[in-house]
Amino acid sequence: MYIASDIPAILRHTREVTFLESRQMAVVTAGGVQFSDLDGAPVNHTTVHIDWNPTAAEKGAYRHFMQKEIFEQGRSLTDTLRSRLDFTNHAVMLESLQLPPARARSLEKVTIVACGTSYYAGLVGKYYLERLARLPVEVDYASEFRYRSPIVRPDHLVVAISQSGETVDTLAALEEARDQGAVTAAIVNVVGSQAARVTDGHIYMQAGPEIGVASTKAFTASVTDLFLLALYLGQCRGLLDPETRATLIRDLTTLPGLAGELLDRAAHGTRYHDLAERFHTYHNFLYLGRGINYPVAREGALKLKEISYIHAEGYPAGEMKHGPIALVDASMPTVVIAPRDHVYDKMISQIEQVKARGGLVLAVANEDDEIIRTKADFVLPIPPINELLTPILAVMPLQIFAYEMAVRRGADVDQPRNLAKSVTVE
Ligand code: M6R
Repeated sequence: MYIASDIPAILRHTREVTFLESRQMAVVTAGGVQFSDLDGAPVNHTTVHIDWNPTAAEKGAYRHFMQKEIFEQGRSLTDTLRSRLDFTNHAVMLESLQLPPARARSLEKVTIVACGTSYYAGLVGKYYLERLARLPVEVDYASEFRYRSPIVRPDHLVVAISQSGETVDTLAALEEARDQGAVTAAIVNVVGSQAARVTDGHIYMQAGPEIGVASTKAFTASVTDLFLLALYLGQCRGLLDPETRATLIRDLTTLPGLAGELLDRAAHGTRYHDLAERFHTYHNFLYLGRGINYPVAREGALKLKEISYIHAEGYPAGEMKHGPIALVDASMPTVVIAPRDHVYDKMISQIEQVKARGGLVLAVANEDDEIIRTKADFVLPIPPINELLTPILAVMPLQIFAYEMAVRRGADVDQPRNLAKSVTVE
């Protein structure tokens, strides 16, 4: 028997795992194991089979886990979609969510609670749920939600997003939601983790073990799951006709292939290495996005700051004139997320404004966009895709950029200072 605080630590030895609940203990002896509460009263326990391949928790030929996790996103997205799409009926199947259509139809509101990268995924989810399921959505930092007096009712769905499923604030927010009678669900990566156990239903991310402290593939998997959730709720609520669903599902299925191509090209070129060479001495970066890519700006900035220790701010581009533009000069590069979407023209004008003030611009843009090449100083290309799915591709260049910057600065990429993979205490 092995005792560990995280599954990857023991994956080489066993895939049968028992989780302890709060205030429980396990006494392991040569003769076996006994589970009890802290007063010694025996408690029932179940064993969960972890469907992760032990090699998935190893670096293989990669230098860092984060690098490996970035470059396996084509595969992790395939796994995320597997068995969830019904191509005959153009429908999404989410059995583990335990939310039958009638219950889905009775919902009045969705609240998303999460921390860090998972919170930014939740911000993308708001766009999906409002657009496809026509439900009002609030996205809350779990650490704030738990200390307010949030209004939660039995006809509200509270969705926690968590890679680890063990983040203390997210679990506390879920408890608050449960106490107030809401329907609860978790979008979670670690099978059998607390978030999956304490909720009415869950969607597993299927990203495989994520070991690098900086979350990467869990972001793209959870955004994809939020898209599936929005599609599912939209379909249950009779809002999406079969033709619309067929188009959205077809676009979704192109995602892993396009991600794979993007990552492949990045792995075989020197673009990101050269950018890190050029930018690693800068002290401040501004990231701008608008609409569905505004959360990507925030996530890109978080990636840079947590592993490179460079100050970076993610901002909604439309807010520039309300303050941050005062910061722009040659010493603060601006990263602009500008795929060809319905706010594209506004992002172009944003680039022009930064350039007019002597700023440097790195733009995440469609690879066939000739206009942006004449406007920005550097382009980080992504393939064109349905506008709703752009966040999933647009974040990848930002992950690679942050990774290369951290490597160039000699930082400990997988274990950045002061950070832990799972924040299990306040
Ligand atoms: O396991 P969780 O998704 O609940 O973790 C939430 C955050 O602690 C996590 O995303 C953190 O912000 C990462 N270091 C971001 O890369």
